[in-house]
Amino acid sequence: MSEKELEQVSEAEIAVHWQEEEVLYPSAQFIAQANMTDADIYERFSLENFPQCFKEYADLLSWYQYWQTTLDTSDAPSWKWFVGGKINACYNCVDRHLPKYKNKAAILYVPEPEHEPHLALTYQELYVRVNELAVLLRDFAGLKAGDRVTLHMPMVPELPITMLACARLGIIHSEVYGGFSGTACGERIADSGSRVLITIDGYYRSGKLLDHKENADIAVKVAEEQGQTVEKVLVWRRYPGKYVSDTPMLEGRDHFMDVVLGDYVGKRIDPLPMRAEDPLFIMYTSGTTGKPKGCLHSTGGYLAYVTGTSKYVQDIHPEDVYWCMADIGWITGHSYIVYGPLALAATSVMYEGVPTYPDAGRAWRIAERLDVNIFHTAPTTIRMLRKAGPDEPQKYSYQFKHMTTVGEPIEPAVWRWYYDVVGKGRAVIVDTWWQTENGGFLCSTLPALKPMKPGSAGPGVPGIHPVIYDEDGNEIDPGIGKAGNICIRNPWPGAFQTIWGDRERFISTYYEKYCKDKKSTDWRDWPYFAGDAAVQAEDGYFRILGRVDDVINVAGHRLGTKELESACLTVLEVAEASVVPLADELKGRVPDIYVSLKPGYEPSRELQGKIVEAIEVSIGKIARPKHVYIVPDMPKTRSGKIMRRVLAAISNRSDIGDVTTLANAEVVEEVRRMVQGDG
Ligand code: PRX
Repeated sequence: MSEKELEQVSEAEIAVHWQEEEVLYPSAQFIAQANMTDADIYERFSLENFPQCFKEYADLLSWYQYWQTTLDTSDAPSWKWFVGGKINACYNCVDRHLPKYKNKAAILYVPEPEHEPHLALTYQELYVRVNELAVLLRDFAGLKAGDRVTLHMPMVPELPITMLACARLGIIHSEVYGGFSGTACGERIADSGSRVLITIDGYYRSGKLLDHKENADIAVKVAEEQGQTVEKVLVWRRYPGKYVSDTPMLEGRDHFMDVVLGDYVGKRIDPLPMRAEDPLFIMYTSGTTGKPKGCLHSTGGYLAYVTGTSKYVQDIHPEDVYWCMADIGWITGHSYIVYGPLALAATSVMYEGVPTYPDAGRAWRIAERLDVNIFHTAPTTIRMLRKAGPDEPQKYSYQFKHMTTVGEPIEPAVWRWYYDVVGKGRAVIVDTWWQTENGGFLCSTLPALKPMKPGSAGPGVPGIHPVIYDEDGNEIDPGIGKAGNICIRNPWPGAFQTIWGDRERFISTYYEKYCKDKKSTDWRDWPYFAGDAAVQAEDGYFRILGRVDDVINVAGHRLGTKELESACLTVLEVAEASVVPLADELKGRVPDIYVSLKPGYEPSRELQGKIVEAIEVSIGKIARPKHVYIVPDMPKTRSGKIMRRVLAAISNRSDIGDVTTLANAEVVEEVRRMVQGDG
């Protein structure tokens, strides 16, 4: 093995392996009502018909001005779709539904405390609240098209209201997942250059009313240290009129949203026609370096793509009650709780809290009560619900027609529980593979047209043409059982346009690897490198194995190992840190931490605690490691690089392989004993 190969470890290497599975077919009942039953769609979206095929998605939207150019490649690989077109995302998600659906629920909100009443926000009410807020953002906060504003909000109805109010005026929202720490939020404020932070005083999580305002104060401080001043902090209140946080408001900087909104009652403002390629939002995600990447998504292309895929992959009709249990703080929530479903005039359910709170039946009680018929969640949640109450679903009389899984590979056994027990053997399942960068689904079956195969995402969705390349750029044929790097041959309208402020990283991370000619403006020269390993079966279905880079997928959330390692290095005593993915029954993967100490310091429980705390402060509780091992030294190559692969093998009790060429081979056995015991 080369030194480089020795150093590297990818999740794919420790991926669970399973057999080829039997396929299952959708019911006649599902097919009879499905939005897409025309098998010709694959032909219409073939590469021969690219890029014009995507007109079919753009035509699902209302445009102020129709576009002239379907795909402009002149600034490759920042693809611009529907150029010349003018559109507003908020108009498409709200205003245009009023004539027909004003009195229909747009959002059904379920608070975590079970005794609190649900909220049904009609399209008319959403229209009113979005308008009032948009005027406030312009007149009180001084925001205008192209400005960035950071949102650090949990699952409350004010979150989609704020996003849509921004979209109405072309203000670029950057929502940071509510569970991220104040520090993580502050870094994202600084990177995006936001002058305004929108947050909330508190929210419920597992029965506890958390103080969220304290994160805002930390975020503003961290942003300031990084050179970005936050002029205004707008604080929603979980209970308008009553402040539930212990953190004081700062006179002049902090304002209660419900109080300020009092001046905007009944105000209206027309949506601003935006160019299709104008940005709609930034969504940060983790990568191989410590710095998160701000994925910049466009207005027209993104909205067309999430609307098309919501209609055909999610099978959403306006009369459906659709519940995606993701958090809006992640891309899944942006695309498939807010923009896609609302563009289709669906009723989108939002739940504040933990699916198993106060007991394993909660999710199913919500489904029964609201008569949800489309359900969408991640394998981690499915595993958690199965563990907490495998027999719970049958106690409730909900009936799903359609279920989605997203975010991580799903084991066939877990898939079957989802199908048999949650779906009661009648709901179709789509396993959707995609990423923050992509805007919407890349691989999935179309539910009425292709059979389901447990553990496989399926073929590319219409208009997406995946290919697996080996390290040298040779195509790997389907059906030979060989894994490689999954790439997409062609651009698609949902793809992000760049990394905010870092075009070079955008190109080098996603396009350089297999680019044939960096000067080319022909899209054929720029396959998109997803960073996942996959195998393609004979039937064309893709099975995603996991990341090939330094990213760990924890419970469907992306964490960069470098981010975790830098958090460890903030602890004074720590000399070196290395983070590896440990396979976990519930969460898929969890981080395992190895650190060595500076001379003169001794390992202790207290120090381990300090390291965990440093991670929670830098990133948030989602990054909490399973173990922190304080080791005498890290296994290293002769050139001094830490051998993550060896540490990962030790954590996962897999084959450590040949380590004789290491600089300090004896350390490997010492560390192994420490982790695995003497056996
Ligand atoms: O490794 C893949 C995994 O999640 C990564 C993307 O994470 P994120 O950007 O946070 O987006 C998650 C929700 C879209 C991918 O690189 N992943 C996502 N969906 C699947 C998956 N792995 C296997 N099967 C999936 N369906």
